Amino acid sequence: MSSDLLVLAESLARSAGTVALRGRRNGPVAADTKSSPTDIVTRWDRECERIIVEGITTARPDDAIIGEEGASRPGTSGTEWHIDPIDGTSNFFFDLPTWSVSIGARDDRGPLVGAVYLPVLDEMFTAARGHGAHLNGTPISPRDVTSIDQTLLATGFGYDPERRAEHGRVIARIVGQVRDIRRLGAASVDVCFVACGRLDAYVESGLNSWDLMAAQVVATEAGCTVTDLHGSSPVVTEAVVAAPAIHPDVLAMFGRAMQEENR
Ligand code: IPD
Ligand code: CA
Repeated sequence: MSSDLLVLAESLARSAGTVALRGRRNGPVAADTKSSPTDIVTRWDRECERIIVEGITTARPDDAIIGEEGASRPGTSGTEWHIDPIDGTSNFFFDLPTWSVSIGARDDRGPLVGAVYLPVLDEMFTAARGHGAHLNGTPISPRDVTSIDQTLLATGFGYDPERRAEHGRVIARIVGQVRDIRRLGAASVDVCFVACGRLDAYVESGLNSWDLMAAQVVATEAGCTVTDLHGSSPVVTEAVVAAPAIHPDVLAMFGRAMQEENR
């Protein structure tokens, strides 16, 4: 069952990503704004979501679908799809390479399958619960890092200026403790890069289910620990993702920094 879902997710992520990349290569794209003047959407976000929703609806008419650009369909099968047609729309707009098409599905036991496709790099991250995680078909695992000062940490800031400023202050308390910080601009890419050892850890809050669902399966199946900011079971709005050996230290470091910030 999960293998059928994964085949569908992978094939739709690839087709939508190919269409978006072709569109982007034809020149600059216009953007409308959403929750803030810098939260943007392009015709390719909408077109990718249309392709994906049509594909899922045709193959699995009883599944529920939730998409960033407005898709919202109830279902009766117990399977629920969470779609980010372009994760990293600002990167897409600026023609930076780290954006993805992210398609995840969950059932009543939690996240089940995920496909995260990076069209510019032609990289497909895939995972199904209990079946490992892969990058272009090769098994992946996180880097074996055991100390915070060797940890390359990724984060994201979201679109709300106040939240950005607050998170910036927390990050300022942390930057001197880690190897360095990266802000690649697409949550799903950050999480998949931790899963394959290109980054060591990732922390962000203010997320949506479509940012995280697919990549969470990839990270968990690759052997990463995924929790919320307090070390509990992951929630859709925040994530701390790291190799198991370093995860408790990443959590503790963030806990301290947030406490100091809120004092
Ligand atoms: C955003 C990106 C960004 C993250 C934001 C997300 P979008 O998604 O993943 O890295 O920091 O929280 O909303 O808007 O580009 O699809
Ligand atoms: Ca998006």
